[in-house]
Amino acid sequence: MGAGIAQLAIEAGLETVGREVDPARAEAARGRIEHFLTRKVEKGQLEAPARDAAIARLRLASGLGDLADCDVVIEAAFEELAVKHELFRELEPVVREDAILATNTSALSVTEIASVLERPERAVGMHFFNPAPLMPLVEIVRAERTADEVFERAYDLGRTLGKTPIRCGDTPGFVVNRVLIPLLNDCVRVLDEAGVTPADLDTGMKHGAGWPMGPCELLDLVGADVHVHASEALYDKLREPRMAPPARLVRMVQAGKLGRKSGEGFYTY
Ligand code: 3HC
Repeated sequence: MGAGIAQLAIEAGLETVGREVDPARAEAARGRIEHFLTRKVEKGQLEAPARDAAIARLRLASGLGDLADCDVVIEAAFEELAVKHELFRELEPVVREDAILATNTSALSVTEIASVLERPERAVGMHFFNPAPLMPLVEIVRAERTADEVFERAYDLGRTLGKTPIRCGDTPGFVVNRVLIPLLNDCVRVLDEAGVTPADLDTGMKHGAGWPMGPCELLDLVGADVHVHASEALYDKLREPRMAPPARLVRMVQAGKLGRKSGEGFYTY
C-alpha cells in the first residue's frame, strides 16, 4: 500500500519520501512504481518525460529523519496497534510542528493510534483501497481529537492525489470495510456451504452482482493474511459472528497461501 500511495503522490506532482526499513523492499517498491508508470506510457496515458519527472520526485529513505520536512506523513505500517504506536511516538519529535500524521489503517481505531501523540489533534485517518493507484476512494477518518483544519487538509490532499474522498467517523471498519469484510467472509463460507468452486463463485458475483472482480480474486489481491487480520480486529470490536474470519481462510493463512504475493491463494499465480 505504501508504494501505491507514494505512486499517487509523485504522479500528483508532490515531492515524496518513501520510507522503508528494508532497502531491498524499498528498491522493489520503486521498481513496481516504475513498471506501472511505464505501462501508462506504453498505453498512451502518460508522456515519457512526465514519467521520468514523477520518478525523480520519489526519494527513498530508511530512517525517520528524512521525514523532517514533510507536510504530511501517511503511515502504512503493519496493522498492529503496538507497531503503529511505536512509529507515531518516534515520528512526532522528528516532524514539523504543523505536519499532519495520517494513518492508512483499515481496521484499527485512529483515535487509539493517535493516543500516544503529544498532539493527537494532528492525526487523521486516510484509508486507501487496494490497489491504491487504481481505486478511486479514500476514506478520510476523523478521530476523536482530530482538528477541523487537519481533517480538511487531509480531505484536500485526497483530492490532490486524484481520489474521491469521503468524510467518516472513527468507527470499526469505517464505511467500506464495515460492509465489505463480513460480505467477503460470507462469500468464503458459501464456497463450502454451496459446494461451489472459487472460479464459479467469482463468476457468480461478477455476472450476478456486477462486481468488477470476484471475491476470491479480490481476497487473493488483498492478501488472506491482511483480510483475516482485519476480520479479527473488527470481530474483536463488534462481536458479530459474520465478522469472524472463516476457518477456511485461517487455514489458508496458516499454510502460507496468502494470494498473489505468495504465488498461491484461491488461485495460483
Ligand atoms: N498503477 C498503475 N496501474 C496499475 C497499477 C498501479 N499500481 N496496478 C495495476 N495497474 C494497471 C495494470 O498495469 C493493468 O494494466 P495492463 O494490463 O495494461 O498492464 C491495469 O491496471 C489493470 O488491468 P485490469 O484489466 O486488471 O484492470 P481492471 O479494469 O479490471 O480494474 C481493478 C482493476 C481496479 C482492480 C478492478 O478489478 C476493481 O475495481 N477490483 C475491485 C478491487 C477492490 O474491491 N478493492 C478493494 C479491496 S478492499 C481494501 O482495499 C480494503 C483494505 O483495507 C484491505
